[in-house]
Amino acid sequence: MNYIPSSSRYDNMQYNYAGKSGLKLPAVQLGMWYNFGTDADFENCKKMIFTAFDCGITMFDIANNYCKSTAEIVAGEIFRKHLSSHRDEILITSKAGYKDIEGPYGEWGSKKSVIASLDRSLRKTGLDYFDVFYSHRFDPNTPLEETINALCDAVKQGKALYLAVSNYDGKSAQKAFEIAKSRNVPLIVNQVRYNIFDRRIESNGAQDTEDLSLVCYSPLEQGLLSNKYVNGIPEDSRAGREPTNPWLNKETIFPRVEAVKKMCEIANSRGQSLSQMAIRWLLQRKRVASVLIGASKPEQIKDCAKAVSSSEISESDMQKIDEITSGLYIEKM
Ligand SMILES: NC(=O)c1ccc[n+]([C@@H]2O[C@H](COP(=O)([O-])OP(=O)(O)OC[C@H]3O[C@@H](n4cnc5c(N)ncnc54)[C@H](OP(=O)(O)O)[C@@H]3O)[C@@H](O)[C@H]2O)c1
Repeated sequence: MNYIPSSSRYDNMQYNYAGKSGLKLPAVQLGMWYNFGTDADFENCKKMIFTAFDCGITMFDIANNYCKSTAEIVAGEIFRKHLSSHRDEILITSKAGYKDIEGPYGEWGSKKSVIASLDRSLRKTGLDYFDVFYSHRFDPNTPLEETINALCDAVKQGKALYLAVSNYDGKSAQKAFEIAKSRNVPLIVNQVRYNIFDRRIESNGAQDTEDLSLVCYSPLEQGLLSNKYVNGIPEDSRAGREPTNPWLNKETIFPRVEAVKKMCEIANSRGQSLSQMAIRWLLQRKRVASVLIGASKPEQIKDCAKAVSSSEISESDMQKIDEITSGLYIEKM
């Protein structure tokens, strides 16, 4: 497939500054946690990446451990073979911190682990550098200076342009920022789990770190914030394919279905899908620069990208969403 990107790709996307840096992130970006492994339909993976780029999505999120540690292989092949002439228009990220090899150096935040992980990620993707490289989780047993200084060294060596953290509380994220700043390395983002049903970061200080922006992952609560589950769990859905999913299973879906239906009505009255409204809801929250979606089909990406150009959710609709979901969202870490 000879892919030629749409000439109107930048017309409807918004780009927001990340932290205190000069880097702009697309308001919606695409992640490869699911559906991008070597066991996935390769043509569908290509179509999803091409569709995303055609929608102005310039940022693609990977990690060492996604899709049983094979997402980097698939994504790398697609970027190298089909988008190399557009590499300068694209931000590709990866992360270190979760386990991808056996033994004591396969996870967490020691210098040994994060540097070896970054080098493996570069080898697997076949890329020369990552635009943004993340510490995937805070390591309580490694001095933060060790983790962040190791990643700063990698930036100085040209293996990454910017640093970021993920799943850090506000205080640790701010400290990571200060360490990187002392090395003149931009640490720009904290990537956090945040959506209408998961509001835990509102109480851990992540929204108060003025020097960092937020990238919000699982914005649709893995698909629950759509009309997909209103009549049960379809076989061809994430919950249908993976009944043991800890976040998305019959115990977490069924008690929330009535609330989802009511939110679909609000979304419909706004002329949009619930998925679009759930993304819009995040784009209006404090410090959010970009919303990180997942997808199993190209059409879902088109649907989600349209959230960016939709109208603001009014204060009264925001209140209705709070009332409808009261007692159904997680608040405490
Ligand atoms: N930093 C971290 O620790 C961390 C952790 C988790 C994820 N992430 C990142 O965040 C990304 C997104 O996470 P996520 O996949 O949980 O996000 P999500 O956007 O909440 O869920 C994505 C799933 O929702 C369904 N979906 C998407 N768009 C839809 C639409 N328009 N209408 C109906 N259903 C739709 C699809 O599921 P079906 O299969 O049912 O079609 C899709 O696979 C990941 O790929 C990863 O890059 C980071």
